[in-house]
Amino acid sequence: MSKKIFSGVQPSGNLHVGNYLGAIKNFVNFQNQTNTECIYCVVDLHAITVRQEPNILKENIRETVAAFIASGLNHKKSIIFQQSTVAEHSEFAWILGCSARMGWLNRMTQFKEKAGIDKEKASIGLYVYPVLMAADILLYDTTHVPVGEDQKQHLELTRDIAHKFNLDFNSPEFLKIPEPMIQKNFSRIMSLKDGTKKMSKSDPSGLSRINLNDTKEEIENKIKKAKTDTLPLPDNSKELENRPEAKNLLGIYSSLNNQDISNTIKEFSGKNFSDFKNKLSELVIEKIYPISNEMSKIKKDNSFIDNVLLEGNIKASKISTKKIEEVKKIVGL
Ligand code: TYM
Repeated sequence: MSKKIFSGVQPSGNLHVGNYLGAIKNFVNFQNQTNTECIYCVVDLHAITVRQEPNILKENIRETVAAFIASGLNHKKSIIFQQSTVAEHSEFAWILGCSARMGWLNRMTQFKEKAGIDKEKASIGLYVYPVLMAADILLYDTTHVPVGEDQKQHLELTRDIAHKFNLDFNSPEFLKIPEPMIQKNFSRIMSLKDGTKKMSKSDPSGLSRINLNDTKEEIENKIKKAKTDTLPLPDNSKELENRPEAKNLLGIYSSLNNQDISNTIKEFSGKNFSDFKNKLSELVIEKIYPISNEMSKIKKDNSFIDNVLLEGNIKASKISTKKIEEVKKIVGL
């Protein structure tokens, strides 16, 4: 059976090594598999669920495309497009919102985290965000969704919404039930300042993350300042359970080097953090700096980026207009 892959990244700035290792690197792996159709979306409608500066948003949309291409996505092989240019996403989100239940949305932990203490002041967009995400995925008959661990609950909700819609309208198998593709290891890269907190675009401390557009000096500096503990590196993975910062840094090293963490533990067992950090810096610079360099070249050519999005829009619209017509027929609209 052929696979249909869909995934999205918010253009909210500060794309980081967590986005790359948890998601974008995997997008590239899927693109290079046979019998696999890939669709990657810059989800700008998701980004505006929290306040974005309009001029900066426009730049961040282009920057996300530049990051996709610099990481190895090819717009001739994968569909790369901007969510808001394909109106069927919003249209379908409304229809699915009528099948989704309040109780399901009330359980979403990401909403609780992002809304903070004063939930009453969060935007309605932020609350219904997971329904839009379900629309993104279900519109393309997606079979697999590569995402980081933090999106797992949203994927489960997507599956529930699809089941409910199929049941509500007596149309078994009309909406395909997608499988989340979450890597077993390194699907949650943690902050460099706190190994118990996810590396995040919105962390106020720039030192908490390595951005995909960091210079070599910034990479070195952030790794040098990354939080550690006082012990030498361990010789077994069990010990890492109580040493979140060590676990995270060894994990980043392993993921960048495509190796199992047990091999990294063997390599650095008994060494102190400063030796390991030097090696980690070298590796991050070797793997991430070429992406950063390529991104800045691509970003100089706005018309190239805009053309990639235009081409993607045409291809995505072709699929989505057909599906939404079928949806409307089933619903009786
Ligand atoms: P976003 O933009 O927050 O993140 C993009 C991708 O990066 C992954 N990710 C991480 N992986 C590992 N460690 C981390 N610290 C880390 N931080 C982020 C995310 O899991 C994600 O895969 N709701 C989504 C965007 C979206 C989407 C979709 C995804 C909208 N529609 C449809 C898949 C399918 C989000 O906010 O991702």
